[in-house]
Amino acid sequence: MPVSRSRRVTVERNDVSLLIDHIGELAVCDDTFTVLRHAAVLVEGDRIAWVGAAGNAPAADEYVDAAGRAVIPGFVDSHSHLVFAGDRSAEFAARMAGRPYSAGGIATTVDRVRNASDVELADNVARLVRQMYAQGTTTVEIKSGYGLTIDDEMRALRIAAGFTPETTYLGGHIVPPEADPDEYTALVAGPMLAACAPHAKWADVFCERGAFDVDQSRAILTAAAAAGLGLRVHGNQLGHGPGVQLAVELGAASVDHCTYLSDADIAALADGDTVATLLPGVEFSTRSPYPDAARLLAAGVTVALASDCNPGSCFSSSVPLMIALAVREMGMTVEQALWSATAGGARALRRDDIGSITVGRRADLVVLDAPSYVHLAYRPGVPLIDQVFRGGIREWAGLSHLSVIRVTYLNMSP
Ligand code: NIG
Ligand code: FE
Repeated sequence: MPVSRSRRVTVERNDVSLLIDHIGELAVCDDTFTVLRHAAVLVEGDRIAWVGAAGNAPAADEYVDAAGRAVIPGFVDSHSHLVFAGDRSAEFAARMAGRPYSAGGIATTVDRVRNASDVELADNVARLVRQMYAQGTTTVEIKSGYGLTIDDEMRALRIAAGFTPETTYLGGHIVPPEADPDEYTALVAGPMLAACAPHAKWADVFCERGAFDVDQSRAILTAAAAAGLGLRVHGNQLGHGPGVQLAVELGAASVDHCTYLSDADIAALADGDTVATLLPGVEFSTRSPYPDAARLLAAGVTVALASDCNPGSCFSSSVPLMIALAVREMGMTVEQALWSATAGGARALRRDDIGSITVGRRADLVVLDAPSYVHLAYRPGVPLIDQVFRGGIREWAGLSHLSVIRVTYLNMSP
């Protein structure tokens, strides 16, 4: 039966087939960045079933007319710290007035988290995840790391698991003020890990001066790997250090920040299997030098882009902002930045079912209110997310779908 163009769309379910038609520009983001023009995508169940030229599109039960807009994969935000309470806007304001960023502010949030109820923490995560959907993110990784006791880390992970399978145990975020560094490291690598591992897919350590040194980081990460967790590392954020080399040595899926890199760090990343995840919102919000993405890409390193949404170093959940910063400040082309925020994020999470618009992948798609994906960097700060599909279900419809907003055309009457 031919597609009925006038049929009313009920895209809040995925037990019917759905054709997204008249796509002006389709960013596929497979192994390389490719674009199809005048394209269509067929979704069956929660998967992409067909991708091709609009004129050859198969019939479907339901139909969305993209009307020449661009469609991109849903963003894969592979790094966030959403389980927190409290507000650190004063710390941000102080930084903008000239005070440097130090990891010390983390302790402020730890104090607030320990005193927050489960409901308060879960409500905050829900609010932030909603904001992420509204900005095109369809997969998010969420870390613990603001509890730093066995019970508080465990409940942070339980709460995170209510929102995503990509949960990361970050007991090794900082040494809490009340603890001795070596005793705390043994706790993180021992009883805390044992309690948290059932609720986590990944383990992460902040390997940086002021947090955990290389031996402490290695002890935590090797114990986590032995407990069956995949590895991630916060490294080389505030200065040169051993984080990148350690991550590659241990086969971590990703090393994140990578702001200060030596030639040896770049060579290790190029030879290894670890994705370099760049978080330019942190440099923006801490007024720090940006990582040199062009240098990484020239060496053949796989680069991901993520938000690092957290209350301290970057309280932005906007992947479009990260793309704009990567293009404007880090030497990436728009194509490289978009690939890194989708397919690159999927690789940083070792996922092959998301991050690209190809047959068999999960139907995570974003319709932009723009004719080209280039607008993501060209129009920074503008709400360009028109519709967000996750697993074939429409999770978000943007401004053009809001009937309550009425635009009055002033001075246009004859
Ligand atoms: O990724 N680097 C360490 N952790 C976070 C910062 C958390 C905070 O400041 O609260 C980050 O930047
Ligand atoms: Fe982080």
